[in-house]
Amino acid sequence: MSTESSLEGLREQALAALASASDEAGLEHWRISFFGRQDGRVTALLRSIGNLPNDEKAKFGAAVNGLKAELESAFEARKDALKRTALASLTTEAALDVTLPGRPQVLGRLHPVTQTMRDCLKAFGDMGFRIAEGPEVEWDRYNFDGVRIPEDHPARDMWDTIWVNTLIDGKRKMLLRTHTSPNQVRVLERTPEPPIRVVVPGKCYRQEATDATHEWMLTQIEGLAVDEGVRMTDLKGVLYQWARLIFGSDRKIIFHHSYFPFVEPGVEMAMDCFICRGDGRDCGTCHGTGWIEILGAGMVHPEIIDNAGYDSSKVTGFAFGIGVERVALLRWGIEDIRNFYGNDVRFLAQF
Ligand code: DAH
Repeated sequence: MSTESSLEGLREQALAALASASDEAGLEHWRISFFGRQDGRVTALLRSIGNLPNDEKAKFGAAVNGLKAELESAFEARKDALKRTALASLTTEAALDVTLPGRPQVLGRLHPVTQTMRDCLKAFGDMGFRIAEGPEVEWDRYNFDGVRIPEDHPARDMWDTIWVNTLIDGKRKMLLRTHTSPNQVRVLERTPEPPIRVVVPGKCYRQEATDATHEWMLTQIEGLAVDEGVRMTDLKGVLYQWARLIFGSDRKIIFHHSYFPFVEPGVEMAMDCFICRGDGRDCGTCHGTGWIEILGAGMVHPEIIDNAGYDSSKVTGFAFGIGVERVALLRWGIEDIRNFYGNDVRFLAQF
């Protein structure tokens, strides 16, 4: 057998064996049997070059090195081909569709009552009102007596109160505040001189049988402006501007006389009904009146001003109390106040 034909035989065997190697282990087996450092068949040929007589060395050496280079590149090509088929079968077998869109991140947002609260505070802030705060667990002397609702006064019946069980001097004197109005007294007491212009946001609590328009917890904003020469028209102007900012400039408002122990005179402000637009005929939402009450307000009672150490013959003020849930209901035409705290994300995600 000539040198060429034995090299040709080795070449054919090597290429055939490479073609039948079908995975990584097969490739490695092939590499060891032809190129392994100890017993590789091509390695052995390369090593034998040195033992040949000089006149044969060059020719044989060139042939063996040629074979080596050919087999090495055939090996790399086979390795690549196997890698590609493995990848292709992975994508079809695992049904991995790399073109499918990713899962979107769920983004949270502010609660509709919080949004409404912030919008209201911004509106009053732009009109020069500062934000103040007061405690949710309140003394009865601030929640009631200080705003002219003494013990046994029938006005205490306007709210069913949640009392704290601790007795002080044999009496229950602490409660979950029923409104933010005690902060009229708190702010007056701690401000040595007018002018005062504050809004006090916060949660209030009442022992309510809940229904579509009543919750046992509610959010209010108390407003208070005190200075020399503050008049009813100032109250109307501020609340009108607030209503336009929150509900839109095409809404109408009206003031009706009303009674609250801490203001004189007291008013309720109403807005044209958002369902019938003030028409009133057959409207269940405004009960045929064309108007919906949105807040209570009035001129601060002179007694409250005097009690705080001011002179009510010089200093006057107005106050208002806004139910924030009610504003949110009217703003978006929501039917049931209980939705706000029902914790159903399908409801909340709409705002
Ligand atoms: N505190 C009253 C309530 O909770 C609301 C209110 C009415 C506040 C008239 C006021 C006011 O400041 O002047 O029903």
